[in-house]
Amino acid sequence: MLAAADLTGLLKTLADPTRLRMLALCDGSELAVGELSRALGMSQSRVSNHLRLLREAGLLSERRAGTSIFVRVAPDFGGEPVRGVWAALKSRLDESPEHRRDLLRLERVLGERERGAAELFEHLAADWDKIGVDFQTGQARQRAAACLLPRGLAIADLGCGTGYLARGLAGLVSKVICVDRSRAMLAQARKRLAKECPDAQVELRRGELDALPLAAGEVDGVVAGMVLHHLPELAPALREMRRVLKPRAPLVVLELEPHSEDWMREELGDLHLGLEPASIVTALRRAGFQEIAVEPVDDHYTPRRRAAEAHSQPTLPLYLVRACAPGDCRSN
Ligand SMILES: C[S@@+](CC[C@H](N)C(=O)[O-])C[C@H]1O[C@@H](n2cnc3c(N)ncnc32)[C@H](O)[C@@H]1O
Repeated sequence: MLAAADLTGLLKTLADPTRLRMLALCDGSELAVGELSRALGMSQSRVSNHLRLLREAGLLSERRAGTSIFVRVAPDFGGEPVRGVWAALKSRLDESPEHRRDLLRLERVLGERERGAAELFEHLAADWDKIGVDFQTGQARQRAAACLLPRGLAIADLGCGTGYLARGLAGLVSKVICVDRSRAMLAQARKRLAKECPDAQVELRRGELDALPLAAGEVDGVVAGMVLHHLPELAPALREMRRVLKPRAPLVVLELEPHSEDWMREELGDLHLGLEPASIVTALRRAGFQEIAVEPVDDHYTPRRRAAEAHSQPTLPLYLVRACAPGDCRSN
C-alpha cells in the first residue's frame, strides 16, 4: 500500500505534459533514448532529465546494451492506484493530436531502425566471413545439422587416413568407426579427432579393406575416400562393404579421375593413378550394390610433392560414386 506522500510524489511526476507524451510512446514498445528524443522532436539532454525522474519514480524501466540505453514503461508502474490513473490518462492521450503526431514521428524513427539493420548487412556481406562467422569449436553448427539426420547412425570411414572425412561426420552422426591398415595414420586421426571434436563418439579400428574389422550389418553407411586407388582389386573390398552395411544402407566412394602424376605412386603410395568411374560402377554392380550413380564434385585434390621439382602443384578432379546395399535405398 502506498503512503499518501509517495502517491502524491508519483502523481506529481506524472503531472507534466512532456513526461506524459514520453510514457505514452514507451507504453508497449521499448525505445532507445535517441529514438525517443527524435520521436518527440526534443534534444536528448532534455529527454534524459525527464527520463531520470520517471525512472526514479519507478514508472519507467531501463535496459543497457553496449552504449545504448533502452526504456519502456515499468511493468509495476508504481502499483495499482497509479496504474489505474495512467490507464485513464492514456485513453485520453491516445485521442490527442499531439500524441498522434508523436506516433507518426515514432513510426518513421522505427522504420529507419529496421531499414538500418537490414542495410547493415548489405555493407557487411563482403566481410561477414571474416568478422561474423567465428565459432569456437564448430559444435553448434554440427549439432544443428545433426538434428536433421536420423538418430543413432553409425558410419564407417574406410581407409580413414588422418580422419579428414571422419572429422566432417563426427558430431553429425552418432558414431564414426574409422578403419585403416596404418597404425601411424590411425594415431594421427585419433589426435585430430580428440582435438577437433572431443565430444564425438569415434572408434578407431585397425584392419584391411578386404577383411574389415566390422560385424555383418554393423553400420548404417560407409564412406571410402581416396582409398580404392590403393587396392590391387576392388571386388574383395566391395564384398566386405556390402557385408558390413545394413540392408538398403548407403555407400559413397570419393575418387580421383584418372591422371598422369606418376610421382604419386612413389610419394603417396598410389597403386593406380586415379580410377575410371565406370570401373567402380561395374565392380559395385557385380558386388550386388544397387542404385549406383556417379556424381561430379566441385572440388579438386591438390597433393604436394616432396621432391625439389615440386614447383607445380597438380589440381586433380574428383568424383563421387553413390550406391546402396541390396534393397531400396534409404538415402537420397
Ligand atoms: C590417401 S589416404 C586417404 C585418407 C582419407 N580417406 C582421406 O580422404 O583423407 C589412403 C589411406 O588408406 C589406407 N589404406 C590403403 N590401403 C588400405 C587397405 N587395403 N586397407 C586399409 N587401409 C588402407 C592408407 O593407410 C591411408 O591411410
